[in-house]
Amino acid sequence: MNNTLFLQALRGENRSGRPPVWLMRQAGRYMPAYRALREKHSFLELCHDPSLITKVTLLPIQEFGFDAAIIFSDILLIAEAFGLSLRFEEGVGPIIDPPVRSHADVAKLKGRSLLPTLSCVLEGIRLFKKESSVPLIGFAGAPFTIASYLIEGGSFSGLKYTTEWVERDPASFQALVDLIADYTAAYINLQIEAGIDAVQLFDSWAHLLQPDIFSRFGAGSIKRVLTQLKTCPVILFCRGPEPYYEILSGLQPAGLSIGWDTSMVALRKSLGQGIALQGNLDPNILLTNTSTVKRETLKLLKSMQGDPRFICNLGHGILPATPVENVHAFVECVHS
Ligand code: CP3
Repeated sequence: MNNTLFLQALRGENRSGRPPVWLMRQAGRYMPAYRALREKHSFLELCHDPSLITKVTLLPIQEFGFDAAIIFSDILLIAEAFGLSLRFEEGVGPIIDPPVRSHADVAKLKGRSLLPTLSCVLEGIRLFKKESSVPLIGFAGAPFTIASYLIEGGSFSGLKYTTEWVERDPASFQALVDLIADYTAAYINLQIEAGIDAVQLFDSWAHLLQPDIFSRFGAGSIKRVLTQLKTCPVILFCRGPEPYYEILSGLQPAGLSIGWDTSMVALRKSLGQGIALQGNLDPNILLTNTSTVKRETLKLLKSMQGDPRFICNLGHGILPATPVENVHAFVECVHS
């Protein structure tokens, strides 16, 4: 563990010769200690209790010595602040009820307070900062991704209702993503005040939009968030392909988190040196065995060798079936 590398890499100042490393979903079901806590508490119980938030956030730091922590929570908690019901069903995923489907539904989301619903997250951040000096990443969903969850009503295999809405009434869809952007900015500013060192915005469904539609509603709404933020390095996550990262880099975030099907070496060439690149091992590699993990991690490290703005991570969240010894092999490979 090294508490300076992550923030140095975001500023382009990491000359240590090794990149910082952390994993998306690093506190999750692949960890036996997490599964043991889940025997006693539902996922939302964990998310609502500040001392459990701190405890779970620390689990992967203690076990693997990651160079950054990410606060344990979920991008969908904001649905509760909108007065919608959120639940996670085994084998189904998240369910948001009632879904947001019309202009009239958007009006109902206006004028809400983020507190006290999200104060558990802020208290979790404050507690973590008292207990640990590891850099802490806060996060939120990007407005388009949150909008699509609210509209589809939870887990979905496509963007049926979202796409219909964009076609039918782009102006009221714009009003929805703008509204979510304003709440998201307020929420991140509260996280910054509570003590986070960096923030990651997850636009997990952006790649399902045509690039021109993404420019308008996806990147447009992220820009609306960024212009309202207090000072804090921002990492933008999406799953590519390349044109999406080009659009996002135009918003001048501190860093971009890259999906595993995009070449970071090619992106470094096309985007220049001024932005941190985070990623991008295929999470499926971590399902294999320690020798494959080492070989593929070394390949990634070599391709980005000496890059002062490289943050080693996966191209998406770690999978629940990942063997713990493979995560050890991955982190040891980066650290040495
Ligand atoms: O990265 C971290 O360790 C921080 C915590 C974190 C979680 N979710 C915890 C979680 C973060 C950053 C997220 C982000 C998130 N949540 C995203 C964006 C990133 C991505 O994956 O694209 C999205 C789309 C969600 C929504 C969500 N949360 C889904 C679809 C699901 C169910 C599917 C699944 O993987 O189980 C969740 C549940 C969830 N969020 C779990 C965790 C640890 C599993 C809950 C459990 O214990 O059963």
